[in-house]
This record gives sequence, C-alpha cells and structure tokens, in this order.
Amino acid sequence: MTAAKPVPVITVDGPSGSGKGTVTQLLARQLGWHLLDSGALYRLTALAAERKGIAFDDEGALATVARNLDVRFEPGPAGEPARVVLENEDVSAAIRTETCGDNASRIAVIQLVRDALLQLQRDFRKAPGLVADGRDMGTVVFPDAPVKVFLTASAEERAQRRYSQLKQAGVDVNITALLDEIRARDDRDMNRTSAPLKPAEDAQVIDSTGLSIEEVLGRIMALQSQA
Ligand code: DC
Repeated sequence: MTAAKPVPVITVDGPSGSGKGTVTQLLARQLGWHLLDSGALYRLTALAAERKGIAFDDEGALATVARNLDVRFEPGPAGEPARVVLENEDVSAAIRTETCGDNASRIAVIQLVRDALLQLQRDFRKAPGLVADGRDMGTVVFPDAPVKVFLTASAEERAQRRYSQLKQAGVDVNITALLDEIRARDDRDMNRTSAPLKPAEDAQVIDSTGLSIEEVLGRIMALQSQA
C-alpha cells in the first residue's frame, strides 16, 4: 500500500505589512484551499489574556489561554476576510488594533505560548490544501510544505500601506510613529530566540516593494504550478 499523499501547503511568511494577509486570502480563494491566519491566533491569545487580566510575563497562564482558545473562523461574505469569533463574540475588529498587534508580538516571544499553538495550527491542514500565513510557517509549523514563500517589502513601503489602510478606515495616524512601530516589531520578531522571523532555507524570497498584489499572486501561483 502506498502512503497517502500529504495535503499540500503553501507557506507565506514575512514581516507585518508585506502584503501577506491580502495575498494569502486571494490565493486560498483562487485555489479553493483553507486559510490559516496564524497571526490571528497570537492576537487572540493576547486579547483573551488581556480580558482575563493575565500579565504578559505570566508565561504559564498565557500558554494555558493559548491552549484553550475558544475560537471559530466563520467565512465572511465573498471578498471579505473571515469573521473571528472568540467565546461567541465577534472580535474581528478588536484583534486588528495596533495595540493588539503589539501585544501579540510580545507574547509571541514565549516558547510555551508557541508550543501551545503548534497543534492548533497544524490542524488547519485539511484537503484539498492549505495556505498558511505567518512568521514561522515554513520553518517550524509546516517544514515539509512543498511551496514556501518569504514575502518582504521595505519598512517605508509597509508603513505607507498601513497608513493608507488606517486612513481609509477613518483612523487618524502619524506615519512616522507607524514606521517606528513597524521597525520595533520587526526587530522583536527577527531577534527573538524562539522561531525568529527568517526565510526557510528552501523558501523563495519575494520583495513586494513596487509590485502590485496581482503580480505577487502571479509569482506564487507560478511556484505552485511547478511544485
Ligand atoms: O501577522 P500579524 O501582524 O497578525 O501577527 C501579529 C504578531 O504575532 C506578530 O508581531 C508576531 C506574531 N506571530 C508570530 O510570532 N508567529 C506567527 N506565525 C504569526 C504571528
């Protein structure tokens, strides 16, 4: 008997603002595959911990929160991201704030939290395939993925993209402060000892500075068709 073929995975790792979120949503839709937004799990852990009054240095309690996350991802209307439901409350907007992202980045340095989320992430790998968005998808969570992409863009371009997104959403922000935050988060994500943000050895690095989303999508689809 031959072993069952593993469910294919495309991993897309990279820093915040590199366009991973949009590209992975489009990829999953185009291929008809499942989508894992692993950053949402770190954001949800941070939000749930904050609501329970757990200190961000209480590693054991944070890991317990991560292990017991009561979360559902409900498909959104066509063209819109999934609704994220935590303990029966729609927290889709609450997990997207800058503060929640910053808190997520802080708890993501904790190995116990990363371990607690590992199996939950692997459980997303279901037929016909998975597109996985994160920081360590290709290096730690799905090291056997046949297609691995590391998507990057200059910090300035990422700050500009985030600025436009927030402006459009009616949020008043300062671009210099955004750029500082992006650099601080990059620094924390890249220099942590536990699963630091870096391309897997077999990842294709795509610099999206100056590229449209469609161009990035086309490059990844080309990699997928050669896999
Ligand atoms: O992709 P994002 O901005 O939603 O992620 C929020 C934070 O979570 C990010 O600063 C680092 C952390 N993260 C991580 O450490 N590993 C992942 N696979 C995904 C996110």
